[in-house]
Amino acid sequence: MTFRATVLTLFPDMFPGPLGMSLAGKALTAGAWSLDTVDIRDFGIGVHRQVDDTPAGGGPGMVMKADVLARAIDSVATAGRPRLLMSPRGRPLTQQRVIELASGPGAVLVCGRFEGVDERVIEARSLEEVSIGDYVLSGGEIAALVLLDACVRLLPGVMGKTASAEEESFSQNLLEYPHYTRPQIFEGRSIPDILVSGDHGKVAAWRRAEAERLTRERRPDLLERRSPRASPSKN
Ligand code: ADE
Repeated sequence: MTFRATVLTLFPDMFPGPLGMSLAGKALTAGAWSLDTVDIRDFGIGVHRQVDDTPAGGGPGMVMKADVLARAIDSVATAGRPRLLMSPRGRPLTQQRVIELASGPGAVLVCGRFEGVDERVIEARSLEEVSIGDYVLSGGEIAALVLLDACVRLLPGVMGKTASAEEESFSQNLLEYPHYTRPQIFEGRSIPDILVSGDHGKVAAWRRAEAERLTRERRPDLLERRSPRASPSKN
């Protein structure tokens, strides 16, 4: 089953952009996923193809029109795919949600621009607002690229023998252990002895301990969220 992405945007030329390269690009060419864009401007009103208007109640910026966006959305055969609105107001994207999306039929992604989108179209078309982090981008396009990149790398065959979805799901809420490769000494710094000892059990234990140490130091919030099975003993 091909993962189908349809992106609604005022800037269709931004796609596939970086997703046309590297692993995602090869998978796109190979047909492991598909990408269509819909130019919201095509559904704009009048000779100027107007897509935005001044905010009711006043204030700065412009608001994307509900009628225009609804017509753009209605032009897409959704076919069971979730309709997402990229927005800093959305629920934060997690690896868990990425795994769910990647195991489904794909997604319809709406990219907002201007100060926002008329609230009524969000309700009327049941758009799920998704944020990629607590900062504000100039539009949803880069957020859509981020979400799609995270999904596509999980599709069967895209990443070769690198981490399966299950492994990622298990290791989620734990930061990655440090990696090393040759040369053995770089600017006076050696590769930790355990990693060149050939003892696979000790290597695994060291990596686990390092992952937990880094998570404790940098992201203690992640440790709180881990399942009891995955948690280190708390003493
Ligand atoms: N659009 C603007 N900022 C965004 C963010 N942080 N996440 C998703 N979409 C956005």
